[in-house]
Amino acid sequence: MANVTYDKNCLTVLDHPLVGHKMTILRDESTAPAHFRKLVHELAALEAYEATRDLPTMQVQVKTPICETEGVRLKEDTLAVVPILRAGMGMLEGVLSVVPSAAVGVLGMERDEETHEPHSYYAKMPQGIENRMALVIDPMLATGGSALAAIKYLREAGVKDIRLLVMVAAPEGVAAVNAAEPDVHIWACALDEGLNDAAYIVPGLGDAGDRIFGTV
Ligand code: URA
Repeated sequence: MANVTYDKNCLTVLDHPLVGHKMTILRDESTAPAHFRKLVHELAALEAYEATRDLPTMQVQVKTPICETEGVRLKEDTLAVVPILRAGMGMLEGVLSVVPSAAVGVLGMERDEETHEPHSYYAKMPQGIENRMALVIDPMLATGGSALAAIKYLREAGVKDIRLLVMVAAPEGVAAVNAAEPDVHIWACALDEGLNDAAYIVPGLGDAGDRIFGTV
């Protein structure tokens, strides 16, 4: 495990046999893109379920075929899902399968050729983004560079409640996000050992975007 420190409370690693099972198939280099995509959807849905436990609700009356009773509905316009292009798009359908009413804000990130820092080359956010909980989705939290650039963009747009959902986290990425943005909670399906010299997560699953889109 990489020699980094961070507040352990900033990270939730999903601890469930289903997650372990699906993650193992996801990691397997012989898993074909169609199956890989399906697993990413399923894992993203499980993460979104965990990460939205405190979504605001309102009391409503509902009439069953038998009688009237009390229920709850989600408050409107409280959630935005923000995939980071390109790999984040692979998690979108899974997240929307559990919160179909969420709005989607898309962020394209690329490295500046001079500074080598990631910056946003494309952004389209929903109305009222500043008042929504934002779920930033990106399968791999490696160095944390793209995640932090996305969080910075959202902070500048006035978003207060930002959460980060990834499939695999490297301790280095968790530490980088936690040092710069201690209020951002991270959900991961696995916390791996660290990064190799090419900044790939070890053991990881390779290039998530390539495996999702079949561009290996
Ligand atoms: N991005 C990936 O797709 N995989 C890694 O291991 C690191 C970053």
